[in-house]
Amino acid sequence: MAMNCNIDTYWMNFGYWEKRRDDKEGIIIISGIVIFPQACSRMAGKLAEAVNMQPGNRCLDIGFGCGDQDIWWHQHYGVDIIAVEVVPSQVAVAKRRVRDLGLEKRVQLMLGSADDLNFARATFDKIVSLDSAYHYRTREVFFSKAYALLRPGGSLGLIDFVFNNRKSSLLQELVKTCASKFFLVPKVNMVSMDTYALQMKSAGFCNVRIVDLSEHVFNGFYEYSVNQYKKYSGLIAPRAFIQLRLVGMAIKFVGRYTNIKCILATGDKLSSK
Ligand SMILES: C[S@@+](CC[C@H](N)C(=O)[O-])C[C@H]1O[C@@H](n2cnc3c(N)ncnc32)[C@H](O)[C@@H]1O
Repeated sequence: MAMNCNIDTYWMNFGYWEKRRDDKEGIIIISGIVIFPQACSRMAGKLAEAVNMQPGNRCLDIGFGCGDQDIWWHQHYGVDIIAVEVVPSQVAVAKRRVRDLGLEKRVQLMLGSADDLNFARATFDKIVSLDSAYHYRTREVFFSKAYALLRPGGSLGLIDFVFNNRKSSLLQELVKTCASKFFLVPKVNMVSMDTYALQMKSAGFCNVRIVDLSEHVFNGFYEYSVNQYKKYSGLIAPRAFIQLRLVGMAIKFVGRYTNIKCILATGDKLSSK
């Protein structure tokens, strides 16, 4: 049974879920829903399209996990990537995968932190962060560093989480406190969409655009966890899926009852005249 699991991918974002049949793209549909690694690569695709990744672009990626996104971006967009991740074990797995594919020269992975980036100014065409920037200390400081590292005409793109602009209820304040403790998110990063956009603009970015992706994230993840549970229940010990179910339910709760939003944010550095 376990042999059916996809062992070639290690994605760690929530995925971008769209209920549509698309045989051309070869998308596998399970009860109208794509499978998890495809939803995750679609999320990576949304980010790549938003910053207009082009062959030969020099990209900096922060928080690459086990490297899925960098391999995918290189293979689908022909970009050259330098990427930084803070967890040594994830860097080791990602490096092995990149080495096995013979991509070390085009996808360079390193151990490091968004909070301590040591690259020359104006080095990159694109800087991207996929489901990671809420951890940085702080995200606002990262915006300024990213601006300095971009070449004129370059773009920053992030998949990230914010709060909507409404005032938080007591429940939502509680969610913030729990998220801060359990998911290592500095409270100073828990800002509204408007503040997020303002912080990007203050760092120097123009054409700042924030798109709310929530309807394609939380519920899709939940439905997928239910599907997996239904598919395997009665066939294997249910405890194997209890964690997945609990996470799925927590994500559904987040999407429905809290004011957390999943966003795609982009901004450009003006071209020099
Ligand atoms: C939710 S995971 C997403 C991983 C990957 N982007 C994906 O979509 O599969 C967040 C990642 O950000 C990394 N991260 C957190 N803080 C970081 C920092 N300060 N610098 C670099 N990476 C960081 C974590 O270690 C983790 O791998």
